[in-house]
Amino acid sequence: MAQKWYTEWCKNELFTNELVQAARLLQAALNWHLVNLYRRLNFSDLLSEPKSPGELAESLQFTDSAAITIDAMLERLFSQYSFLEKSAVNGATRFRESDNPPEITHNLDDIRASMSELGQDYLTTLEFLQFGDDKFEYALREDPEFLDRILSGREAEWEELWFRATNTDPLQNVHGIMGAVAIDKLFDSGAILEIGGGTGNGIRNLFSHLSDKNELDRVRQYIFTDISQKFIMSTRREIRADYPDVDTEWRFVDLNVPINQQKIGDGSIDLIYAVNAAHVAKDIIAFLRSCRKTLRPGGRVLFAERIRLTEKDMAPRELALNLSIYHRTAALRNDKHRPMHCYLSPKNWLNVLDQAGYGNAEIWPDLDALNDYFPDQYAAVITAVA
Ligand SMILES: C[S@@+](CC[C@H](N)C(=O)[O-])C[C@H]1O[C@@H](n2cnc3c(N)ncnc32)[C@H](O)[C@@H]1O
Repeated sequence: MAQKWYTEWCKNELFTNELVQAARLLQAALNWHLVNLYRRLNFSDLLSEPKSPGELAESLQFTDSAAITIDAMLERLFSQYSFLEKSAVNGATRFRESDNPPEITHNLDDIRASMSELGQDYLTTLEFLQFGDDKFEYALREDPEFLDRILSGREAEWEELWFRATNTDPLQNVHGIMGAVAIDKLFDSGAILEIGGGTGNGIRNLFSHLSDKNELDRVRQYIFTDISQKFIMSTRREIRADYPDVDTEWRFVDLNVPINQQKIGDGSIDLIYAVNAAHVAKDIIAFLRSCRKTLRPGGRVLFAERIRLTEKDMAPRELALNLSIYHRTAALRNDKHRPMHCYLSPKNWLNVLDQAGYGNAEIWPDLDALNDYFPDQYAAVITAVA
């Protein structure tokens, strides 16, 4: 019942025509950049003979785990065009160029112009892609930790772009809004623990939503956590100024370490919340089990997540994120429940929640019901009861 309401709300209010168009334009921009990179890196020559992503990374003198970046890129090109052939020898995938790469008929300037008509804030999403394109070789060859420094707030020059790319970009902000409205529907009141809260998309949207309804007192206690002290401090400054009366705590919590070893007791929390952070977990099932222990009986996890719509789906922003060692290597892959790094598909989420012992697992909204209206739909809330 509630899921049905949520699906209708997404369709009628949240997923505006602008958002649907922006997601489509972003997919087109990703194709443009990938073909551009393919040409710039001279893949036509390199792939005149079959090569694995690892062999390509080696030929380009890229850092080891760059194979994952190249794999995602070629899988995406393979799924969109028909100029590549794929073969598997002893489980290793190899790609070969079998036809000329496409002449991209659409132009990036046209995409930018159309995007800006949807609203200036949408341009950040293209800027982030352009950044990934510009820094591709630098981040994979000369300075492999470059992106990791940006993602943890240690690169002052790029701090502002990262903030916009995770907060003011409407395609990203939508995750925090979805989380807030789902919490409103599924959570009565109590203590909330936010994991990987970062620059504040989750807490900002939730507090603003509840405050608009005059229901902020449903948050009895809010423990905001991350592994970046810098993000914790800046989000704390903002939220304390805007919501001085809410009981908030600000802590370092590493989601790869059992939560009860980090001064948060078993059975002490009513809701564990994360916006685009749960997928960071190295061992996703161990993380979910640790969350389950931390929850009171009947407590719930609720994750607003970018989801993979197909097994090898590449999120456009992964053009930049895949330049980070952490993003590429943090997740332990598993053929059955996590075939790719980081983001999971809805089916993978249901599988891992089940293995971790949760009940009542649900994905909101009903993605099948929205398929015709929003074919590039990429955002969902994953929730289950401990
Ligand atoms: C994609 S960002 C999402 C941030 C925020 N929730 C948002 O939506 O704006 C992922 C966050 O996870 C944090 N993170 C990375 N590794 C982590 C870990 N091992 N434990 C906890 N948080 C981590 C990062 O510092 C970053 O803030």
